[in-house]
Amino acid sequence: MARIELHLGDITQLKVDAIVNAANNSLLGGGGVDGAIHRAAGPELLDFCRTLNGCETGQAKITPGFNLACRYVIHTVGPVWRGGDNGEPELLKSCYKKCLDLANQYQLESIAFPGISCGVFGYPANKAAHLCISTINDTLNHSPSSIQTVFLVNLEETMHRLYQRILAEFTTA
Ligand code: AR6
Repeated sequence: MARIELHLGDITQLKVDAIVNAANNSLLGGGGVDGAIHRAAGPELLDFCRTLNGCETGQAKITPGFNLACRYVIHTVGPVWRGGDNGEPELLKSCYKKCLDLANQYQLESIAFPGISCGVFGYPANKAAHLCISTINDTLNHSPSSIQTVFLVNLEETMHRLYQRILAEFTTA
């Protein structure tokens, strides 16, 4: 059974099989975690992304990690929060599932996620964290998987604490 581990820090520094990028539909870079990943991976990542023809919201695409310590980057596009009645939960859930599916397809053992949509896309952190942990549990505990460890990474202490609280609720439930 896969383990969920929480990590406070910069996702670009992690030595895991894959880190997930919270990208936009163009896959051509941006701010936030996307900008940090492209800066750390180097210009080859952008060159590679140009060949992918973008990515739909709720879908995911994989690239090499180039100068990063991880082997792969899995790029996914989270929904922009528009009040919650516009398919946001289904789309965010799909992001986590598609990333885990790709990791399984590539036989990866470790994957690290940032809080997809929790920055400029405005998804409420509490709702996003619940959905993230429940989706990972459902996906990994109900079908065979190569994944041993899922890291949930936050740059900010308040977000990290929120994830700690929610993960504890799941563990004691
Ligand atoms: N390591 C870990 N987490 C980080 C890092 C980092 N280096 N940098 C930011 N975060 P955001 P979104 C956290 O805005 O909401 C981009 O411009 C951050 O604190 O990066 O999905 C894309 O190109 C927040 O909790 O992604 C898109 O246009 C979380 O990562 C758009 O932003 C996500 O924040 C995507 O917006």
